[in-house]
Amino acid sequence: MPKMTSFMFDRYGKHPFAKHQVAIPTPAANEVLVQIKAASVNPVDIKKRNGDLRFLLPEKHPAATGHDFAGVVTAVGTNVTDFTVGQRVFGKLEDWHIGSFADFVCVNTKYIAEIPTAWSFEQAAAVPLVALTSYQALHDNLQLKPGQSVLIPGGSGGIGSIAIPMAKALGARVTTTASPKNFARLQQLGADVVLDYHDGHALSTQPQFDAIFDTRGGDDLLASFALIKPNGRLVSLNAIPEARFIADQGAYYHLNGLKRVLLKLVSAKHTRLARKQHIWYRFMLAKSSGKQLQIIAALMQARHIPITIDRKFDFEDTQAALDYVESGHAQGKVVIIH
Ligand SMILES: NC(=O)c1ccc[n+]([C@@H]2O[C@H](COP(=O)([O-])OP(=O)(O)OC[C@H]3O[C@@H](n4cnc5c(N)ncnc54)[C@H](OP(=O)(O)O)[C@@H]3O)[C@@H](O)[C@H]2O)c1
Repeated sequence: MPKMTSFMFDRYGKHPFAKHQVAIPTPAANEVLVQIKAASVNPVDIKKRNGDLRFLLPEKHPAATGHDFAGVVTAVGTNVTDFTVGQRVFGKLEDWHIGSFADFVCVNTKYIAEIPTAWSFEQAAAVPLVALTSYQALHDNLQLKPGQSVLIPGGSGGIGSIAIPMAKALGARVTTTASPKNFARLQQLGADVVLDYHDGHALSTQPQFDAIFDTRGGDDLLASFALIKPNGRLVSLNAIPEARFIADQGAYYHLNGLKRVLLKLVSAKHTRLARKQHIWYRFMLAKSSGKQLQIIAALMQARHIPITIDRKFDFEDTQAALDYVESGHAQGKVVIIH
């Protein structure tokens, strides 16, 4: 049986990823086999290895890793009619079936889209997770309208670098936080106001926002409740799943009764704050969708939304790419090239 290389983790904790030789998978009826040309790294790839998400997404070890990919279809399942061998595709793998830090991956066609002709594999691989997350946060959850103000903390990272121009494309006035060395880049991306995140008082001098896209969690999330106008909207990427998330997605994450009760107890602080301040509040985890990737790719091309790639690494150096993202100082996306 032909083999491929896959970077996997053998146990939870800050251990190096292990390079395994595994069988090249065979596509199921609704899947295609993709030869990966480029992948990109997201903090969640490291969080999963560390075990930070095991409450929601427990892994069986050795566990494959990597969500984002771009490549060429090399085989199709028996039911596949919308994709053909040789087509260039990109996507974010679904939470329970990740593994894009490998030579090949099988993926259900509902999670992929064709790569726009103007985009390279590297550019396409940098898009899916951060763009789906930003679109689902700004468009679906915050429901941003032209003229509204939005705060996007952490503007210089993978999320911020696409969320800022996407929010501008939706017509919003964007405030973001970053280190001064990144101010000029974020202004070029369209940010109206850029504040130094090292200055703990900078945000309290600003008028209240219609919406906040919290990318940081922790104390930043707690402080956000006071920064939103009454009846404003707040979505967080880094919080405890709250009651609405549990109701909507508890079955997908196989949450049993005990887990649901525990999560509701721990998230009650945020839910109470939201109620007290009359704020619509949700935690979100990005969902994979090929259809939404098509919408996003069209929006990015029509509105000239750039893809910010900070560094590129060879596939052999996947560990170094992951280490760089783990440092917490990436300035946009980190791409792995085959
Ligand atoms: N729930 C979901 O579905 C979901 C989806 C995507 C991402 N996320 C999470 O969202 C977070 C952001 O993701 P990302 O891809 O943007 O991460 P990232 O690319 O690793 O972010 C790195 C950037 O964050 C900046 N930064 C560090 N500390 C900061 C602070 N206190 N305030 C403002 N900026 C700060 C750094 O700037 P300096 O170098 O100047 O320090 C760096 O440019 C991660 O925790 C990720 O796991 C969640």
